[in-house]
Amino acid sequence: MDNRLSFDYNYLMSDFVKDGITKEELAGYEKKVAQICDVLDAKRKDGINTLTAWMDLPYSQDAIVEDILSTADAIKAKFDNFVVLGIGGSALGPIAVQQALNHIYYNDLSKEARNGCPRLYVIDNVDPERMEALFDVIDIEKTMFNVITKSGSTSETMSQYLLARDLLKAKLGDKYIENIIVTTDEVKGNLAKICKDEPFKKFIVPDGVGGRFSELCPVGLLPAAVCGIDIKAMLQGAAIMDEICKEKNLYKNPAAMFAVQQIIAMGKGKNISVMLPYADSLKYIADWYAQLWAESLGKKYDNDGVIVNKGQTPVKSIGVTDQHSQVQLYTEGPSDKVITFIGVENYRASVEIPGGYDDIPSLSFLKGHTFNELILSEQYATEYAINAAQKWTRSITLSKVNANTLGQLLYFFEMETAFAGELMNINTYDQPGVEEGKNATYALMGRAGYEAKKAELDSKQPKKAEFVIG
Ligand code: PA5
Repeated sequence: MDNRLSFDYNYLMSDFVKDGITKEELAGYEKKVAQICDVLDAKRKDGINTLTAWMDLPYSQDAIVEDILSTADAIKAKFDNFVVLGIGGSALGPIAVQQALNHIYYNDLSKEARNGCPRLYVIDNVDPERMEALFDVIDIEKTMFNVITKSGSTSETMSQYLLARDLLKAKLGDKYIENIIVTTDEVKGNLAKICKDEPFKKFIVPDGVGGRFSELCPVGLLPAAVCGIDIKAMLQGAAIMDEICKEKNLYKNPAAMFAVQQIIAMGKGKNISVMLPYADSLKYIADWYAQLWAESLGKKYDNDGVIVNKGQTPVKSIGVTDQHSQVQLYTEGPSDKVITFIGVENYRASVEIPGGYDDIPSLSFLKGHTFNELILSEQYATEYAINAAQKWTRSITLSKVNANTLGQLLYFFEMETAFAGELMNINTYDQPGVEEGKNATYALMGRAGYEAKKAELDSKQPKKAEFVIG
């Protein structure tokens, strides 16, 4: 069984859907894609300044990987729990990779069944109930906290850090230092500053690697290694996909082809991108993708400063579960979506459906089949039904889910996003739209320097009671 990914876009084409993409439309992008390959290559050479240093991660981390692996061994020997404190790009990757590659009920297994690895918790919110609940289920003395923040200043993560540090200090005194690892910028941000006085073990988020493109650096590699995942194989998979996505021929480059399709789709009013994995293991890949696609491509201005308000809304879905929830809408609702199935040829388990009730033919037909056949049939049937309704679908199929194919998949989506950003002529790597909310939060929480923003908030027109019910 090889580590193969295939990319099937039949059901986007006009041969299969009436308003579909024509071969002529695709041909219109051939030259542009070849040019973008050159642009991306040039950017890669200046990765720090162009924020494309993520493209080098499959190749540039030998020493870091060794450090991660020996740190992971030390953590396994001493700790029962590994808690990631982070948000956005500092959390979604670790969650997605853990779900994909480890036992679905990993935390519920015995330590022996976890091969001696600690339980993993990724705390990506500041809900006080969740914060309190975490400390109900972990013994902090036996817990390693990994504070992950590229900027080193994100209020949510730093609040979590302050809480964990406070509790650890109360329990362990000066030894609290041994229960915290930080993953942050080398010099910038509060966390880097703090590390000068508090000698935590520190991993670096490399320059030129933004949050949502950081899963394949220590942000994602340390939590994965601590949980026994083969991070070298993940990086090898990413390198394989990188080679494939350097191809200038549109028809041989899946990232370029899928990006072009989304651009054409948006031009035809399909402003929603549904990610529909047919595997629980890939469920949180849809969440990770949602951030990557939304934050990278949802932009007000293009690179020439023109207001464009571009973007395509990502929707997370899961098969077969959402066949009983969202698929009705996908089939009969508006033609405003591109639905990407993610399928798996070979699941890591094979489970037979037992017999019984031979006198009820509408039940007994299941006998002798497997759950594998059932899920694959349902995927096929749903793809068929949505296509029959003339809605746009395409599919990515993994021969199996393992560290190599997952590395390929993650890197594929990063490259698709990079191509899409170039085709849209927007800045893929910034996120100015989240600044206003952050600044308003600082003002409300009394941060010095935000007095003017506070005054602005206070002078805002009050909401009207007549528009509130209850
Ligand atoms: O993609 C991004 O840059 C953001 O979504 C960040 O990942 C998120 O805001 C968290 O930032 P940081 O890692 O600096 O705490």
